[in-house]
Amino acid sequence: MTDPLYSRLGGYDGIAMFATNVVGLARKDDLLGRFWTNRGEDRNARELQLLIDFFVKETGGQMYYRGRDMVLSHQGMGITEDDWKRFIEIAVSVAGDMGVGPDEGGEVMAFFDGLKSDIVSG
Ligand code: HEM
Repeated sequence: MTDPLYSRLGGYDGIAMFATNVVGLARKDDLLGRFWTNRGEDRNARELQLLIDFFVKETGGQMYYRGRDMVLSHQGMGITEDDWKRFIEIAVSVAGDMGVGPDEGGEVMAFFDGLKSDIVSG
């Protein structure tokens, strides 16, 4: 039996690094940065931790996710198709830099794709 995606991505530490790098680049990005303007450090830290927890749980790790669902947490932000494309580009480049293999990379992209209609609204 194949190990869960969680393990194949390097377990908690691998996923935490992936999420931290993606969110770090998204916040500094010319297009996506607008979603994080005027937010305090603690709010950002809590959001990042929720993202890590969600990711760990959804990929088969042992985690109880205590955040809101994807519709509720992104509703009204006006995330567009172009924003989504940019987010995926960032995720692909971070996965590449971390040496994530093609099978795992494909599974991560399929996971994101399944969430797209909950997150993109604009
Ligand atoms: C263009 C893509 C995305 C943008 C611009 C975006 C932006 C944001 C922002 C600004 C927040 C903070 C909301 C707040 O503090 O009230 C947030 C929360 C969150 N996002 Fe995203 N997001 C994107 C994609 C994703 C994806 C693909 C996932 C899942 C893999 C995700 C998971 C989460 C989670 C778990 C939270 C925290 C929920 C909570 O506060 O309860 N986001 N997102």
